[in-house]
Amino acid sequence: MNKKKRILTGDRPTSRLHIGHYVGSLENRVKLQDEYEQFIIIADVQALTTHFEHPETLKQNVFDLCIDYLSVGIDPEKSYIFIQSMVPQIAELTLFYSMFVMVNTLKHNPTIKTEAAQYGFKDLSYGFLGYPVSQAADITFCNADLVPVGEDQIPIIEVTRKIVRRFNSLYKPILKVPEVLLGSCPRLVGLDGNAKMSKSMGNAVFLSDDEETIFAKVKTAVTDPARVTLKDKGNPEVCIVNEYHKVFNSDDYDNICSMCRNAAIGCTTCKKRLSEVLNTLLSPIREKRKYLEEKPEYVKNILIYGSEKARTEGAKTLEKIKEAMSIQYF
Ligand code: TRP
Ligand code: SF4
Repeated sequence: MNKKKRILTGDRPTSRLHIGHYVGSLENRVKLQDEYEQFIIIADVQALTTHFEHPETLKQNVFDLCIDYLSVGIDPEKSYIFIQSMVPQIAELTLFYSMFVMVNTLKHNPTIKTEAAQYGFKDLSYGFLGYPVSQAADITFCNADLVPVGEDQIPIIEVTRKIVRRFNSLYKPILKVPEVLLGSCPRLVGLDGNAKMSKSMGNAVFLSDDEETIFAKVKTAVTDPARVTLKDKGNPEVCIVNEYHKVFNSDDYDNICSMCRNAAIGCTTCKKRLSEVLNTLLSPIREKRKYLEEKPEYVKNILIYGSEKARTEGAKTLEKIKEAMSIQYF
């Protein structure tokens, strides 16, 4: 009997992962894969909520995302990486839950509202409005205990918790109410000072960026605008570069703050130091990616294996769900 608690976590295969994902949740996923039985979902169906006009982009993105996971240190011997659409039980579960989730709960969900505004949706598709329901199915198909994600996912997981409680009280208390686990930096600001690092805002450092790209991107980062010349004393508290030092270079953080305040370091040097730190973090990840990019069969087999395991677990859960709902007839 496997007594390990379970993690269910994952991402949409819409863009490459960036360093915000790393400190938001990837780091946790790598750290916890020994202690927990971990399932990582590549949410291709959820990606269709916004990318339904271009399903042909998914295949490459699914592979890229899987390579992102493997290159940061997700170990396929310890974690199951699987594709959402390859686990039909998730779709089935979504349908059952959708019977008792109220449209108003979804319409007023902060993440749904923010994303709808971001995409400029005038009306919402049934699938987009309902993606928190399908995410609840993602999380509960294996009865997960813990969900490591970034801060933006909190309102969505709150819906999962609500659904689980409702299910348990309507039918039979068989589902666990999952907990959210936030990373060391649950929301990393963008290089441009925007509240969030994201591909669509063009302010992200991707795990796959090469050394030169990182130097070039960090050069554009927003610093203390009042610090015009080298002799001006800076205020590190209003500087994005410094926020990154705090997250990625914590040992040197206090030192950099005081040098900035005393004008003992220039912004160019300070940025160069940050780029070096980021490159030290990313260079082994890049190496591993290069290796994996040449092994598409290996990556494919990991996805097939993970999806198979997810289907097996999904089938077990579905049986219990149907029994609890009294719709297991024979
Ligand atoms: N909504 C998540 C995102 O946009 C992706 C996701 C889908 C997810 N299903 C999940 C995350 C289940 C955690 C658990 O990044
Ligand atoms: Fe920011 Fe560093 Fe310049 Fe200070 S020296 S303003 S912390 S980039």
